[in-house]
Amino acid sequence: MTLEIRAIRDQDIEDIVSLWHKCGLTRPWNNPHKDIDIAREEPSSEILVGIQNSDIVASVMCGFDGHRGWLYYVAVDPGCRGKGFGREITIAAENWLRDRGAPKVELMIRDDNFTVRDFYHSAGYTVEPRIVMAKWLKEPPAPQKETSQVTKTPALEQE
Ligand SMILES: CC(C)(COP(=O)(O)OP(=O)(O)OC[C@H]1O[C@@H](n2cnc3c(N)ncnc32)[C@H](O)[C@@H]1OP(=O)(O)O)[C@@H](O)C(=O)NCCC(=O)NCCS
Repeated sequence: MTLEIRAIRDQDIEDIVSLWHKCGLTRPWNNPHKDIDIAREEPSSEILVGIQNSDIVASVMCGFDGHRGWLYYVAVDPGCRGKGFGREITIAAENWLRDRGAPKVELMIRDDNFTVRDFYHSAGYTVEPRIVMAKWLKEPPAPQKETSQVTKTPALEQE
């Protein structure tokens, strides 16, 4: 079964947001529509979609910050998993980043998302000993306020 992969188009937006909800990738403090708008505005970022039988069944957001390439919103519809689509769209994002000169690709995994680690291991990713730190540059949403202290966390961290 083949997956058609292409850049996002206007008519894809609601289907992508719905896919991200279904895949548990949305959080109250991230507005997925805004994330999509920003990724599309900048030449250094893109959202790729995977299509099967006219349906959007996979996605990835990729961006090159000039130093590293990053992946976000790697998602495959729950009904289409285990067919290699996740691997295919990840490779497409890696190629997009490589074509723009990114020497390395990185991603963050929320610390409660255990199963996805095997997916990335099988695609050649390794855990690197890093701690992700963050600081809000605007008023943080309520759920984030109480967790704003520095804590030691696993190397692969929250998106
Ligand atoms: C992670 C995800 C994208 C994988 O998609 P998928 O299409 O099922 O993955 P593939 O079929 O391409 O699998 C590729 C390989 O990863 C392995 N794999 C995939 N999901 C796995 C899992 N949950 N546990 C263990 N291995 C897994 C497959 O066995 C396969 O290994 P192989 O090449 O050795 O046979 C999908 O499960 C998903 O959307 N998860 C929810 C969203 C998410 O957590 N995204 C990542 C955020 S960081």
